[in-house]
Amino acid sequence: RHPVVIAVDGPSGSGKSSVSKAVARRLGLAYLDTGATYRAATWWCLHLGLDLADRDAVAEAVRTMPLEMGVDPSVESVLIDGHDVREDIRTTRISEKVSAVATNLEVRAELGRLQRALIDAQKAVGSFSGGRGVVAEGRDITTVVAPDADARVLLTASEEARLARRALELHGDAGTEAVEATKDQVLRRDRDDSTVVEFQVAADGVVTVDSSDLDFEQTIQAVLDVVAQVA
Ligand code: C5P
Repeated sequence: RHPVVIAVDGPSGSGKSSVSKAVARRLGLAYLDTGATYRAATWWCLHLGLDLADRDAVAEAVRTMPLEMGVDPSVESVLIDGHDVREDIRTTRISEKVSAVATNLEVRAELGRLQRALIDAQKAVGSFSGGRGVVAEGRDITTVVAPDADARVLLTASEEARLARRALELHGDAGTEAVEATKDQVLRRDRDDSTVVEFQVAADGVVTVDSSDLDFEQTIQAVLDVVAQVA
C-alpha cells in the first residue's frame, strides 16, 4: 500500500480537528494539526514580547522558533524550547491573536514549509499502527501545502451548526448566551483568516463534506468514503 496523504480544510467549528484525528486513528496514520503550528507561533511571539503588528520581527521569530510538533493522533504534543504549550495555545489569549500571525505572508511561507516537511517525513517513515501517511488538517492544506494529496476534503457546516459546536466545546452548552460569546472566536477569526486563504469554497478536485446534519460518526464515515474512493 502506498503512503497516503489526506488533506482536510474547513472553517472553525466545522469539526475538522476531531474528525481528522479520528480518521487518522482508524487508518493508523499520523495526524498533523497545522492550526497548532500557527497557535504555537503566536505563543512564541508573545513569549518573546513582540508586537504582533511588527511583521518583520514576527517573521524572523517564526523562522527561528524551536518548535517540536508531535504527529501521534492519540497524544497531542507541542513543545517550544522545552515548554509544553499544548494547553496554553488553546486559550482565548491565543485564539484572539492567532489571525494576526496567520495573515503574515512570510509566516505562512515559513510554516507552510515546516508543515510540508512534516507531511513528507510521514510518507517516508510509516506511523503508529503500521499504516503509512498522514491526515493533515487546516485552512490551506488542500490548496497550498498539499494540493497533491491523495484525498482532499473541505469540511463545512452551517454557521448555526458551527457556533453551536464551539459553544458546547467552550461553555458546555449551546444556549443563546453561549452562542453569543463564541461569535467573536468563530466568525471574526474566519473573516480575518479568509483575507489570506480561501477555505469556504472547495477548490477544483476537493470534495465538500457538509456536516451540518451529520453526527460525529457520520462525518467520520463521510470522510472515510472520500478516502476509500482513492485508496
Ligand atoms: O484550526 P485552528 O482553529 O486551531 O487554527 C488556528 C488559526 O490558525 C486559524 O484561525 C488561522 O488563523 C490559522 N491557520 C491558518 N492556516 C492553516 C491552519 C490554521 O492560517 N492551515
